[in-house]
Amino acid sequence: MEHSPNHSAPALEVPPALAVEIDELVSHYPQPRSASVMVLHALQDHFGFLSPETIEWTAARLGLQPINILELVTFYPMFRQRPVGKFHLKVCRTLSCALGGSHALHRHLCERLGLDARAHGPQTTADGRFTVEFVECLAGCGTAPVMMCNDACHEAVTPGRADELLAECARAGARAASAR
Ligand code: FES
Repeated sequence: MEHSPNHSAPALEVPPALAVEIDELVSHYPQPRSASVMVLHALQDHFGFLSPETIEWTAARLGLQPINILELVTFYPMFRQRPVGKFHLKVCRTLSCALGGSHALHRHLCERLGLDARAHGPQTTADGRFTVEFVECLAGCGTAPVMMCNDACHEAVTPGRADELLAECARAGARAASAR
C-alpha cells in the first residue's frame, strides 16, 4: 500500500507509523474526503496543531484543494492552527457559564499564570506549559462555570478548584519530566 502523499504534496515530515494510521483511516471510507476530519485529528494529535503545511499535506493526501481542508479547520473549534501549551485550559464563556462566573474564573487562571486576561485569543505562558482561552459552550450548562483541562471536563469550577487543577497539572508535568 502507498503510504506517502502524491507527488504534488508539500514536504511535511509524516512519520511512517502515522502515515500507516492515516492510510487505515482513509480505507474505512468510500470517498477519501470523508476521512478528512479523522485525518486532521490524527495529525493534530501528533503535531499538536495544524500548520499550513499540514493542511496542504492533508489536501494532497485526500485529493482535495487546501481550501477544502482549511474550511474544516476553521469551522470546528477542536482544531488548532497554532501550538498550545502542554496543559490547555478552555473556559466556557457562553451564557450559562458567563452568568455563572466564567469571566472571573478566566481572570483567576490568567492571574495565577501571569497572563493578560484582557488580551484577545489564547494566551500561553512563557515556559510553554499552560494555554488559557475562552471557548463556546462545552455542553455542561447546568453546572456552570465549566472548563476543560486538555480532554478532561470540569464543572462548577470555583477559584479554589481552579488552583487545585493547576497544582495537579504542575505535579503531572513534574512526573513527566522526571520520567524522561
Ligand atoms: S454555557 Fe457553558 S457549558 Fe454550556
